[in-house]
Parts: sequence; structure tokens; C-alpha cells
Amino acid sequence: MLSFFKKRKIIIAIDGHSSCGKSTLAKDVAKSLNYIYVDSGAMYRAVTLYCIWNEVDIDNPEEILEALTKINITFQSKRGKNLCYLNEELVEDDIRSAEVSDLVSEVATISSVRAHLVAMQKEYGKSRGLVMDGRDIGTVVFPDAELKLFVTADLDIRSHRRYLELKNKGKEISFEAVTANLIKRDRIDSTRDDSPLMQAKDAIVLDNSNLSTKEQLKAVMKLYKIHT
Ligand code: DC
Repeated sequence: MLSFFKKRKIIIAIDGHSSCGKSTLAKDVAKSLNYIYVDSGAMYRAVTLYCIWNEVDIDNPEEILEALTKINITFQSKRGKNLCYLNEELVEDDIRSAEVSDLVSEVATISSVRAHLVAMQKEYGKSRGLVMDGRDIGTVVFPDAELKLFVTADLDIRSHRRYLELKNKGKEISFEAVTANLIKRDRIDSTRDDSPLMQAKDAIVLDNSNLSTKEQLKAVMKLYKIHT
């Protein structure tokens, strides 16, 4: 009886600019639906961290290809947190450092890196029941996702949120530096040749500038009901 009414599992693709609240939304939606959540940005960050730690020359395609054979990225959910591991080492904090944030967009322009990570990301979607956030999830990774969202918010609001997040983590950074990093990342992400950040034709735009996290979750759960 119950299984008759059970909703089919779908893929929810969430794309958008840096620090627009995609990850918070994606985590909340996955939790509400008991779906798997994958932060694709964390994967680009983990590759970047590996390159920094191992002094990989990101302008040298051969060095990048070799590095990719040595990188294993996994996620574990612990106490409600989604944690990223690089070669079995917990790197959740390291991948959020200013050093990684400054370089990650450059690394994400490299086609061999993208091809490698996109193949890994597609694996997560095989049994559906997945929420993934990033920049090319609705356009490249899962063009067949049943629900696609393009999240956006005012630059000033995004900078404020990111600034507070870093401050709360005890990081010393100025508001201006946070804004400059967001502008730079958005520019590189939106103008790169391979899989630039863009709204999928069938994506629904969600501007959360004036929405609380609760309100945006409510809005998306409404859309989920329509799409299942
Ligand atoms: O979501 P984030 O800020 O953690 O992402 C870090 C960087 O990775 C971002 O500058 C763009 C890149 N990225 C990407 O190119 N494609 C994705 N699917 C996810 C992230």
C-alpha cells in the first residue's frame, strides 16, 4: 500500500554563483527528502588542494593528468555534516581556505580536470535520489535532471554571508577581499570555454536575496512536489 504511493526518486540539480546559498539549500533539500547530497565544488577544491600541497604546475597538462591518477575524493556524512576526504584524509577545512578559494576557479577551467570529475559525479546519479550543487550540474552533468534550479542573490548580500561565515570560523579577512574573490570567481566561472556557469534552459531561477533558509527550502519543496 505504502510503496504504491511512494514518490519516484529524482535528481535535483542546483547551480548558481559563488556563495549564493546553494550548498545550504542543497543540504536542506537532501535532508528533507532523505536523498544523497554531493557538493561538486568540494571536488574541484580537493583537486586544487592536492595541486597546492604537491606543487603541481597547473599550467602543465601532463602534470595535471598524472595528479588526477593519484587523487581519490570521497565524502562521509558525520553528525549532520557532509565531510570531504582527499586520499582518506579529512580536508573539509583545508578546501575552504583562502589559498584554495583563490586558485580553484583556475583549476576548474582545465578540461581534463572537468572530464575526470564529471565522470565521478555522474556515478552518484545512477540510482537517482540525489541533490548535487555546482556550476554545470543542470547543463552538463545531469542535463536530464527532473528538477533544475538556478540560485542567485545580490552580490552585496552574498559577500556579507561569506564574510560572516569566514569570521565565524575565525578567519581574518576583509569584507572587500571577500567581495573581490566572489567577483573574480564569478567572472572566471561564467566566461571559461569548457562548461561555463549558465542557467539551463529548463532551470527555475530562485533569487534568495530576501529569503531565509527556511523560506527557500519551503519554495523548493513546493517545486519538488510539482516535479514528482
Ligand atoms: O561551489 P564552490 O564555490 O565551492 O566551487 C568552487 C569552484 O569550483 C568555483 O569557483 C567553480 C568551480 N566549480 C565548477 O566549475 N563546477 C562545479 N560543478 C562546481 C564548482
